[in-house]
Amino acid sequence: MTPEPVTPDAQLLEGAKAAFRQAYAPYSRFRVGAALRTPGGRVFFGANVENASYGLARCAEQSAVQAMVTAGEREFTDLVVYSEASPPASPCGACRQILFEFAPDARVVCVNHKGDVVSGLVRDFLPHGFRLEGRDDGQEVGTE
Ligand code: THU
Repeated sequence: MTPEPVTPDAQLLEGAKAAFRQAYAPYSRFRVGAALRTPGGRVFFGANVENASYGLARCAEQSAVQAMVTAGEREFTDLVVYSEASPPASPCGACRQILFEFAPDARVVCVNHKGDVVSGLVRDFLPHGFRLEGRDDGQEVGTE
């Protein structure tokens, strides 16, 4: 994926920047914010959250997916990832798999403070991604 002339969605970019400012990254000093939108138009945010036990760090993209699922949503169409890195931070391998679980066809736009963009579909970021079909997570249970 090479930089391309894609403009990030304004609402998602603002949300990703706001999440970026809330990032907890005292160890790496590398802040990341993410914002995603569901097919119904709901928007969820995530920031990276690090830990003194370094391996427990959680990425911004994963935080956003956690927020989405916790709210009862199971799909998203667009994701913006904001960082102040050059080139813009793009989802790590683990996050690519987490994104693929819910939205292989979602558009991902990674953007930085200079406006540089790297974008593509989730399936472009994770070719031949692993997914189990026929999933039923029993979402209706306990919703009476
Ligand atoms: N990180 C993200 O949150 N998202 C990415 O796309 C790349 C990396 C975080 C994890 C860690 O807190 C910090 O950035 C440095 O790796």
